[in-house]
Amino acid sequence: MAEKRKFRVGLGVAGGIAAYKAIEVLRLLQKNDCDVQVAMTKHATEFIQPLTFRALSENYVLVDDYAPENPDPIAHINFSQNIDLLLIVPATANLIAKFANGIADDFLSSTYLASNAPVMIAPAMNTTMWNHLATQRNIERLKADGVHFVEPIAGELACKTVGTGKLEDVENIAAQVLQILGSRFEVSGSKFDNGSANNFEPETLNLKPQDLLGERILVTVGGTREAIDPVRFISNHSSGKMGFAVAEAAQKRGAKVTVVCGATSVAPPENVEVVKAISAEEMFRAVMMKLPETSIFIGAAAVADYRPRTIEDFKIKKTDQDILILELEKTPDILSNVSNNRHDGLLVVGFAAETNDVVGYAKSKLAKKNLDLVVANDITQPGAGFNTDTNIAAIITRDHEIELPLMSKRELADKILDEVVKFRQVSKL
Ligand code: CTP
Repeated sequence: MAEKRKFRVGLGVAGGIAAYKAIEVLRLLQKNDCDVQVAMTKHATEFIQPLTFRALSENYVLVDDYAPENPDPIAHINFSQNIDLLLIVPATANLIAKFANGIADDFLSSTYLASNAPVMIAPAMNTTMWNHLATQRNIERLKADGVHFVEPIAGELACKTVGTGKLEDVENIAAQVLQILGSRFEVSGSKFDNGSANNFEPETLNLKPQDLLGERILVTVGGTREAIDPVRFISNHSSGKMGFAVAEAAQKRGAKVTVVCGATSVAPPENVEVVKAISAEEMFRAVMMKLPETSIFIGAAAVADYRPRTIEDFKIKKTDQDILILELEKTPDILSNVSNNRHDGLLVVGFAAETNDVVGYAKSKLAKKNLDLVVANDITQPGAGFNTDTNIAAIITRDHEIELPLMSKRELADKILDEVVKFRQVSKL
């Protein structure tokens, strides 16, 4: 029987504080049949010695093509053309900018240009650098070029701020690399001896459990806009961050996720289906369309409870009257409609954004809206509520409640999903 072929991964390490995490990624990949060779930028060597990677990878670590001790005079060509995947952990804003613009002024950036292998980039940086239009523009360019991204997550950063920019969990990075290698070689088949792609079982990885595999999750996200006339609307401060965090976490745990998305100030996560719905009415219709194929509904949107009774066809003009009265009518309550029309096995999760008696109001919402679980938060507390990257919440079901401390919305998303999974397990008993 032919010996099982190893995946060859080129691991590029750039100069960021998260460089040490590349060591863990290297180890995880090695445990999963990968032969890893490391290339570092000069700045990366300020954070970690090449010797560490050399000892662990048992391969020469490439930093500089011209270094006299470099055993291969055209290393960037040989390295780049002998790998099955180029993985960058961590990628800095600078390296991303160089890749996006085809700048090849050091070993790693030359390797990117000289390689035909799939590329996966796991960025880590300060939130402002991550959000900068230049960085986002470069990322969009690279995505259009077919580069895969393992997006950073929200959490406490090296600069002691809380925000998006933290390197994704190393297990998830390794899992996504193996997924690409697995599917790639399954497709091409011939590249493997003994069909080793079919033997692909990342069981040595301590993966985030794929405990939502088979679930189809529908999440409402963001705020709705209720038109007054062609130029004005009533809305709220919702950013969409909490709903998107839940969507992203669920997708990473194996679920197929659809977001029905109102007005948001952040982009949706990757690998989820996005349905746009601006008003409560549009959101209601979009949800009801998707409901038959949904197994878990999560209402994270800040849906307007009332909308103008009539939408003026023309812009309302200023008059001599000091007071203008708008007549409002109730919008459909999406969450109640979902729970009152539930098919067998549908789990329904709601959110309760409150300013006082948080747990009390949340419990009455749980009962009134016939929910399985409600996530309650006091939006008046610092670090909680709209447009922050963090939240302080309590998760309430019919038989228990869990009060959680301040944490990133992404961490909270996983806590909510942990409870959803427990609920599922109990209801299946
Ligand atoms: N919700 C909904 N459709 C609406 C209003 C709210 O689906 N028309 C959902 C929200 O997505 C959230 C939950 O209901 O999951 C709580 O919304 P909230 O507006 O806080 O509750 P209400 O019952 O409207 O009560 P109140 O505004 O008085 O707190």
